Amino acid sequence: MNNQQKIDDLKAKRAEALLGGGQKRIDQQHKRGKLTARERIELLVDKDSFEEMDVFVKHQSKDFGLEEQRFYTDGVITGTGTIDGRTVCVFSQDFTILGGSLSEYYAKKICKVMDLAMKIGAPVIGINDSGGARIQEGVVSLGGYADIFLRNTLSSGVVPQISAIVGPCAGGAVYSPAITDFIYMVDKISYMFVTGPNVVKTVTNEDVTFDELGGAATHAIKSGVSQFTCENEVECFQSIRKLVSYIPSNNMDTAPVYEYDGPMDNELPELNTFLPDNVNKPYDMKELIEKIVDENSFYEVHKEYAENIIVGFARIGGRSIGIVANQPLVLAGVLCLNSSIKGARFVRFCDAFNIPLLVLEDVPGFLPGTDQEWRGVIRHGAKLLYAFCEATVPKITVITRKAYGGAYDVMNSKHVRGDINLAWPTAEIAVMGAKGAAEIIFKREIDAADDKVKALDEKVAEYTEKFATPYLAAERGFIDDIIEPKDTRKKLIKYFKIIENKVDTNPKKKHGNIPL
Ligand code: HXC
Repeated sequence: MNNQQKIDDLKAKRAEALLGGGQKRIDQQHKRGKLTARERIELLVDKDSFEEMDVFVKHQSKDFGLEEQRFYTDGVITGTGTIDGRTVCVFSQDFTILGGSLSEYYAKKICKVMDLAMKIGAPVIGINDSGGARIQEGVVSLGGYADIFLRNTLSSGVVPQISAIVGPCAGGAVYSPAITDFIYMVDKISYMFVTGPNVVKTVTNEDVTFDELGGAATHAIKSGVSQFTCENEVECFQSIRKLVSYIPSNNMDTAPVYEYDGPMDNELPELNTFLPDNVNKPYDMKELIEKIVDENSFYEVHKEYAENIIVGFARIGGRSIGIVANQPLVLAGVLCLNSSIKGARFVRFCDAFNIPLLVLEDVPGFLPGTDQEWRGVIRHGAKLLYAFCEATVPKITVITRKAYGGAYDVMNSKHVRGDINLAWPTAEIAVMGAKGAAEIIFKREIDAADDKVKALDEKVAEYTEKFATPYLAAERGFIDDIIEPKDTRKKLIKYFKIIENKVDTNPKKKHGNIPL
């Protein structure tokens, strides 16, 4: 071959690689309602930014007829691209090649791009659509998975890891996405489970469909395995691009700051009448979030799971923050087992990646009951407490209304290193609600009274007047200031700037032992 022929040969090989497992299988993929691995990368990264690595890799197996099926890429496309100009490392499993199944060399490719991500400090985005371990390769493929799991773990807290599940993801293969920071699933085409419906039927005699067992809705609402559900793949990759805009590229970096051209020090007079006068009436905390953060910047995480707590990213004055807020609309905003886990995981992500935290608090306490106690609300509630205690990023709390009992301590109180703790004048910082408190401490007087209802009402009023306020906490410096609700946004912008470079440290250790 002369030089020109060699160049033409290279082009021909690349063109062959672009066809993955061939046009027929690409058509089948489309018929399944799914995009191809390459189409997905195009949607994810900036136009023309993708640089593919290892396109010429082929498997080296000779068993079960595999030697006849050697495709370029070996079933996974790996490389780098940019999102809004920032480098990301990507792998995209190609179902058109042997069902996207994972072989020895396929795993090596994923490991290589993950190693690169660690060296250059870039997020890893994994697009998962695979039949699992390449059955013909046996244990070699299992070893490949373990090599990836190890890298997922070592990368955790160093570079953000994001998984899109856009096809099957079953068996031990689920544990790679499970270790990553965020999982996206797409309605109707994604499923994740450790054992599929047939095995479930054999072992537990349950009849369950793929979708019920491990579809997008199941993992968003019931199991909490996934954080984001999308209607289609286009929305999924747009949404991942959006997530990346809020987070830094690695743990030594800070999130990008966006120029915000809206008002920065505006008062929000409507907030002075935002809370209902009746303390037992719910209101929508999301409405409050939308009002105080930069317009349209709130990006909710884990939206459909444990809705009594809200977590998500937003910008305030152009800067990324993570928000953890009680939601009085659901179970009165109580903390429970699932909401504690949800909150804790989010707090730890923000802390690992230098994203300041804002806590909006209206919490009547932990959820009582045998169900919660027996399933370990003590152990799981402790996770949220632990996460706030260990977090050293800038942390601000605003108590809008209830801050009762242990939940007061947990929700980024001053005592667990809240940097700035503010309260609205409507805040009630107390051991418990006024009625419960009056019934206990004034039991004898109430029992002795002729009109018990009137006596209780009086005692509730007395307790409310004295204790259901922010002033006792403020007297002791547990609250730094009591602010008018209308000033919340402007104070937050100011305070986040003030504490931007705050330094807090934890004692040197191998790692803590968070109650798991
Ligand atoms: C090799 C595989 C494969 C696999 C699919 N294919 N999975 N080849 N190893 N694991 C091939 C099929 O033979 C087929 O080849 C092509 O991919 C497309 O598969 P279809 O079955 O036609 O597609 P579909 O009907 O959409 O079904 C998809 C599927 C099914 C549900 C994923 O293929 C399936 O059940 N596959 C096996 C899943 C499995 O048991 N994997 C091992 C799990 S254990 P042709 O040539 O016909 O197009 C595991 C352990 C991981 O993964 C452990 C980590 C610790």
